[in-house]
Amino acid sequence: MVTAGLCPAVATSGGLGTILDRSRFPAELIIVRGDLDRLMTESELSRLERQGLEGRIQSALSGLLWLSKEYETLTKHAVDETFISDAESFWADGKLDHLRDLIAASADIYVLNLEIFRASRASKEDMQRVSEIDTALCQGCHVLSSGSPSILPAYRLKDFASTMSAREFLARLLSGIRGSGETTLANPLTLGDIRGFMRLYRPLPE
Ligand code: HEC
Repeated sequence: MVTAGLCPAVATSGGLGTILDRSRFPAELIIVRGDLDRLMTESELSRLERQGLEGRIQSALSGLLWLSKEYETLTKHAVDETFISDAESFWADGKLDHLRDLIAASADIYVLNLEIFRASRASKEDMQRVSEIDTALCQGCHVLSSGSPSILPAYRLKDFASTMSAREFLARLLSGIRGSGETTLANPLTLGDIRGFMRLYRPLPE
């Protein structure tokens, strides 16, 4: 069953295992930062898109504590959790500038490792495989552009990827689904798939 609003390509289990689990918290920080940027600066967003982004930020913030625990356990890096309740207060009070600064500072501390996923590491086989997956699967849904009258539209991936850093696009490929931390929906993509998609949607040079 496909739940509306989720990306089914990343809703089944498989793939990256602990690499993904270790990335979840840093990836979520980058995504919240990016979603806030869109919410605060993109003027052509539809009312529904705005609503979708707000819902996603809200739910991401409520899942952060759980993700930070997972990150601490797996990486042995301590997380100063006080920023999470501060972030929730800023959100509740509508202090988006403060929230954005706080999340950006945290994303700089708990850094998502881009190195192993670099587009330049994609092999010929990776590229061939992801091109086929893209044509057969991804492009079927990812056809919309910013301003679409839809909550969480599936945007054209190449266009979408070009609006953000490689690291943010990686975070979105890894997490695809923003939701509560309790729903540990695993990503079916392999390391080679991710590298391939990084290259397919964000052509070299990086
Ligand atoms: C059946 C439709 C469907 C298919 C097939 C699909 N997606 Fe999605 N995808 C969506 C929807 C809808 C969203 C927005 C959901 C959200 O952001 O919560 C999404 C979100 C995403 C995101 C996150 C975007 C963001 O705003 O952060 C990425 C990245 C993504 N998809 C990549 C892919 C890739 C790569 C494939 C092919 C392997 C794929 N999708 C296949 C519907 C689809």
